[in-house]
Amino acid sequence: MARKIVVTSGKGGVGKTTVAAYLAAQLAKKGQRVILCDGDFGLNNVDVALGVENLVVYDIVDVIEGRCRAKQALIKHPDFPNLYVLTSSRVTAERYVSPQAVKLVLDGFSKQFDFILIDCPAGMDEGFHRAVATAEEAIVVTTPHLSSLRDADKIITVLKSYRLAELSLVVNMVRGDLLASGEVLSPQEVSELLRIPLLGVLPEEQGLYNGDFTKIHISFRWMSAALLSGRKKIYDPSKKYKGFLGNVRRILKGRL
Ligand SMILES: Nc1ncnc2c1ncn2[C@@H]1O[C@H](COP(=O)(O)OP(=O)(O)O)[C@@H](O)[C@H]1O
Ligand SMILES: [Mg+2]
Repeated sequence: MARKIVVTSGKGGVGKTTVAAYLAAQLAKKGQRVILCDGDFGLNNVDVALGVENLVVYDIVDVIEGRCRAKQALIKHPDFPNLYVLTSSRVTAERYVSPQAVKLVLDGFSKQFDFILIDCPAGMDEGFHRAVATAEEAIVVTTPHLSSLRDADKIITVLKSYRLAELSLVVNMVRGDLLASGEVLSPQEVSELLRIPLLGVLPEEQGLYNGDFTKIHISFRWMSAALLSGRKKIYDPSKKYKGFLGNVRRILKGRL
């Protein structure tokens, strides 16, 4: 049976879609059969994040409303044979889609897949509840900054009222230089503040989608390994800013 994991945050723009897409790709690379479902019916962009927007024919609402069979709405990713994308691309914001209907579609795939990741919309309204109600586990994404932390805290309180088997944290957009100089909370401090365990840490990287994401890749590899084996290895973005040369890098970055 597939593990259904919702990737959520509270605040928008903190990296939910990015985390869901990269994690899905890494799990698929490790041989897991994965569906990435776009639970963000308003600002849906999972297809774009994974570069399959031109391959969309049917979406989850077509399945729910009987215009196609469930399998027809799965887009097989051209680069990752085990990765499938289930979009919500053609849904208009006004259309009501119930959590039960989405759950039914995902449950139908459960036997043939190992993971179903659900990308959640920002906020705490209908779309959020619909996405969370379909899942059994949740990954909360936050940045180390106050506005994002405050929203993450609110969302975690709500998530705790759902009976989820697992709740874990990804701290995104961590600047290694600021971490080394103590100007931002460390991911461990964020995890203690929010009182949920850390699954992974992602550095803030320029050109995320332009092929320059080696460090991001390492971190996602470790996160997917943690999901599979429970053995956690947390990426430390401040490492290259420690020691003598590290201090030089940090000072130079501060001047930018
Ligand atoms: N670690 C990161 N470093 C740099 N940019 C990032 C990082 N994570 C996400 N982004 C960028 O931030 C923007 C918002 O990310 P996205 O995943 O769409 O957030 P959300 O789904 O929470 O709204 C995107 O342009 C994305 O490329
Ligand atoms: Mg998003």
